[in-house]
Parts: sequence; C-alpha cells; structure tokens
Amino acid sequence: MPNESNVYGVREKMNRNSLAKGINWVGVVDWNMRDFHGYITHRGTTYNSYLISDTKTALVDTVKSNFSKEFLEKIRKITDLKKIDYIIINHVEMDHSGVLPKIAKLAKNATILASRRGKDAIIEHFGKDLCIETVKTGDKLNLGNRTLQFIETPMLHWPDSMFTYIVEEKILLSNDAFGQHLATNFRFDDQVDEHVLMEEAMSYYANILMGYRAVFSRKIQEVKKMGLEPNIIAPSHGLVWRSYSSKIVKSYLDWSAGISKQKAVVVYDTMYESTDKMAMAITEGLSSQGIEVKLLKLRVSDLSLITTEILESKIVIVGSPTLNNQLFPSVSAFLTYIIGLKPKDKLWGFFGSYGWSGEAVKYMTEIVKKVGFEVFNSGLTVKYVPNQEDLKKCIEFGKKIAIKIKI
Ligand code: FEO
Repeated sequence: MPNESNVYGVREKMNRNSLAKGINWVGVVDWNMRDFHGYITHRGTTYNSYLISDTKTALVDTVKSNFSKEFLEKIRKITDLKKIDYIIINHVEMDHSGVLPKIAKLAKNATILASRRGKDAIIEHFGKDLCIETVKTGDKLNLGNRTLQFIETPMLHWPDSMFTYIVEEKILLSNDAFGQHLATNFRFDDQVDEHVLMEEAMSYYANILMGYRAVFSRKIQEVKKMGLEPNIIAPSHGLVWRSYSSKIVKSYLDWSAGISKQKAVVVYDTMYESTDKMAMAITEGLSSQGIEVKLLKLRVSDLSLITTEILESKIVIVGSPTLNNQLFPSVSAFLTYIIGLKPKDKLWGFFGSYGWSGEAVKYMTEIVKKVGFEVFNSGLTVKYVPNQEDLKKCIEFGKKIAIKIKI
C-alpha cells in the first residue's frame, strides 16, 4: 500500500485498517450515536471487529445488527464468508454480537467460540440453534502461523467477557476494556488529538467500568503472570492503542486504585434558585482553599459528564430541594446511577433548601451511608430562601470540606 500522511503528520505504512499483516479492522463507525443505553456519547462511537487471515481465518466479535450490511460487505472485500473458520465472541452484549445470528448462517463452516458463560448468554439472547464451543483462560487456538490465546474476564464488565490475545503480534483484543466512544475515520491512537482520546477513554472507564475496578486490577496481574505483554491493545470501541498502550494501562491502574486530585464536584438541582444560591456559595468556599471545583446543575448536565468529573475528584457535594417530602427527581436519578458505579474513596457532603418538612438532605445522607460512602457531616439545610447568614454558612461548609481533604 502507498504511504499515507494524516492531519497530524503520522506516516501510515500499511492499509489504514490493518493492525499487522493479515489482521484487519472490519468494524463500523456509528457517527450519530448520542445515547448509548443512557450514556450520552457526544462524539459517537465505533463497533470494532477484527478479521485474522491465516491458514485458518478467525473473526473476533461482530457489530450492532443495524450495521450488518456494511459489516458483511467489509468482510467480503477481504475474504469469502465461507472461508471463516472461527467466530470468536469476546462479549455477548448486542453492540458486539448483534450480527452473530446472520453471519453464523452465511459463514457455514465457522465454529463459534465463547467463554462458558458466553455460550449461555448467546443461547439466552439468540436461542439454541447456534453451535458454540467454549474456551477458558489459557486455551490456545492455532491458526497456522499465529496463535490465539484466551483470557476470561468475568465482570469486566459482563459475566461472559473475555480477551483474545494474538501471541505472535502481541495484540490484545480487549473488547470493552480500554474502549472509547469516539467516532472517527482513523483507527489508531496516534492519528487523533491525544487530549480528546484520553478524555473519551476516561469517560468510558468512569461510566462503564468504574464499578468493576477490582476485577480490572486482578486481571492485569493475571495477564502479567501469564507472560503476555501486549504492544497493541485493540478494544471494541474507538481507537486502537499502538503508541499510547502503556499510557492507557497506567491510567486504568490509577483510576482503579482510586487515585484522585484535589478537586470537588458540586452536583445539584433547584426549584426556585434557593439550592442554586447555596451551591454557588459552597463553590465559593471550596474555591477559597485553592482546589479545583466543578459546579454541575443536573437538569443541564448529563450524568455521563458528571460521572467523568467525579472519577478523579476527592469530594462530591450534592444539593437537592425537598419536593413532596422526597428528593428532587433528577437528584434521585443521579444517586441511583452513581451508587451503581461505586466511585472509590470520595468524601460526600449534602445540602438543600426546603419549605416545611425538609427530608432531602437526610435521605441523601442515608442513601449513600447505606452503601458505605464516607459522609462529611450531617449536611446543610436552609428554609425557603437563603439569607446572608445562611450563605455565609454555605461558604464555611465549602471551606471546611476542602480543608478536610487537604489535610
Ligand atoms: Fe460495548 Fe459491553 O458492550
């Protein structure tokens, strides 16, 4: 192939979809995806699938079913579907397995390989007609000149998940791990803006994988013990890591360890701007101590963005008015979402205004204490509209919590 030069001046020495000789990306780009089961994907996404052509041919993962035509055409440009010997399903979530029933019919000679729990999940999604063989950690598959090795990664992030490692080229096909929701015509990390790439990788980790961080840390140790040292990490969404693969592994280890910055996130909603005024004053108190602060009103900020901001923060302060003796609905949704993702080692504080009963702060405190989050104090409440004295208390509240994390 002729050399190509992208906008960042990187010289391409091969087919722009090729990871190595005979290993091609055959995925699709979903430019217009903006809501990925509730995760707001401002930059779209890709569904990555990889075709490994050797004496035997293996396809690793498929794509979402609405892209089946484009996907099958892409594979046909490289090989006859009947020449596919193996279809490896690293993960059964339908953004990766959606075309499996269709391609299994067309690739008549292919054996489907999945983890034991992957096999169960395929049957539970698509019925019993597909013929599936199971693989487990350490199993190897010889394709001729190269070998595939399998590593089960249960709960990273589904029970069925696994990695496929191409031994000779040291390529880890990591499925959802190390992914990014980033639609682009480029395939590799060094072809796009590094800041945008890392921002999306961080957002992806926070919203998809943060709740499973203990599994990730264990799995990295296991991969090292197996002697696997990937040079290239090819996830199932976004760009392939070939220049920054060490950097993304280090970032994942830091995020999984809960390493954070002197940063606070104030998340709130408001009815008549009383809780809004409190949020501003608390932000002033936090800022007075020189720490980074992000103020995010729930009805104008999506949960995915808020969660990404929380990942590297030490403090999360949540404000809710009391509405009909309950939390404000958007605050309730936020707490449900964030509790599921179990952010590590944060200090939580609560505030809010009320008219007569004022349960919101008490309820928020109870909800997070129940799941083991550390709470700063009993919280701050204001009846109806905060006066100057109340606002001073809010500033003091912000100052005190900032000082606590600086100690
Ligand atoms: Fe990208 Fe868990 O699916």
